[in-house]
Amino acid sequence: MAARILVVAEDPSLQRMLADTVRGEGHDLLTAVTGPDGLRRWNVDQPDLIILESHLEGFDGYTMVERVRDAEKVGLHVPMIMLGDGTEVADKVRGLRAGADDYLVKPIHAAELLARMRSLLTRFGPVERATVGPVRGQVHAYYGAKGGVGTTTIAVNTAVALHRIAHRKVVLVDAGLQFGDHRVFLDLGPDRRSIVDAVASPTIDSEFLRHLVVHHESGIDVLLAPPTPEQAEQVLAHKQHMIQIIDALRTMYDYVVIDLDKRLDDHSLDAITAADTLFVIMTADLSCIKNVRLVMETMAQIGLPDDKVQLFMNRSNAFTGISVKSVEGVLRRPVRYQVVNDYRVAISALNSGEPFMHHRADSVLGRSLLEFVRAIDSRPAIAHAPVRQPGRMVPALS
Ligand SMILES: Nc1ncnc2c1ncn2[C@@H]1O[C@H](COP(=O)(O)OP(=O)(O)O)[C@@H](O)[C@H]1O
Ligand SMILES: [Mg+2]
Repeated sequence: MAARILVVAEDPSLQRMLADTVRGEGHDLLTAVTGPDGLRRWNVDQPDLIILESHLEGFDGYTMVERVRDAEKVGLHVPMIMLGDGTEVADKVRGLRAGADDYLVKPIHAAELLARMRSLLTRFGPVERATVGPVRGQVHAYYGAKGGVGTTTIAVNTAVALHRIAHRKVVLVDAGLQFGDHRVFLDLGPDRRSIVDAVASPTIDSEFLRHLVVHHESGIDVLLAPPTPEQAEQVLAHKQHMIQIIDALRTMYDYVVIDLDKRLDDHSLDAITAADTLFVIMTADLSCIKNVRLVMETMAQIGLPDDKVQLFMNRSNAFTGISVKSVEGVLRRPVRYQVVNDYRVAISALNSGEPFMHHRADSVLGRSLLEFVRAIDSRPAIAHAPVRQPGRMVPALS
């Protein structure tokens, strides 16, 4: 079976020799010259095998290998062969430590390279594209029917559970641009980088975002809201900032979990349009019911398919005098998900900056949320290679 092979080399004669070898075997050739270029091609084209020089411009082959391994989708493993100048064992060890599968010392002999390529392709691929397809993470947006219903609580803890329990690669986006509070929920200081740093760049791509997300100790990455409200103005809807960010993030993660702002402004509508599912969080009271109706009408007006919108009842067993059944009756649509009321666990998690799905997953609230997470994460895990353990994820540089 023909494989897609990415060659990252800067020496023209080596490029030619590698190209001939790859094509001679009937494989498709992809090329790049610098480290950053190579990383971009890997991200976009998802090759079955990478052959790269250890010395490259921009950043070297060791760094490229490390970045691929860090950013690789859980369960996937692209084999990489590094071509090095050094005959020193230390160079080889460095390449293998970075995550390369093989290391060949120059000058390269076509026959040896072919043998290594064949062996790696037999072990790891080529990937069945019909079943795996390009990396396209699920985008889940959470919108509160009114303030204080628990939208941030649900979004933050769902993100943590998707990673810790379902072993997914997850990024959480605080889209409450003016008064986002994920720094409080996750005990992250005001000095951490935010979405404003992302939009300062002329091009918003995955390579750039990788440096901006903050790695939380629970294992998830977080794209924070700006530390002060006035900075929110730098995020511009007419430049499609939110759309660009979401599009890039979904190539890097299994799930992009977005905690939306209360205001249904252009940023929120952009995020909702990009989302695969919109969870509308509510509690059982009249003002929520009224607002959910208005939200549903707005969604119909912007042409959002009806099945993209799912109702989520938080604090479902708290006494309000209105039952879930009667809410469904009034709204004429099902409440798909429910999470119980557990004020102590919820508030102490918030005040300590420790999500309950990280530290109190066995609480009543944790178990209730877990049912929700199991229901939404029904996709089978991709299992070409052993699934990496939680915790070994993108080492964000914050
Ligand atoms: N399931 C729940 N049970 C009890 N209290 C909850 C629950 N979910 C959230 N809360 C509490 O509700 C308050 C508002 O939560 P928050 O997530 O900030 O809401 P929002 O983002 O919708 O404004 C917080 O004090 C939080 O601890
Ligand atoms: Mg909130």
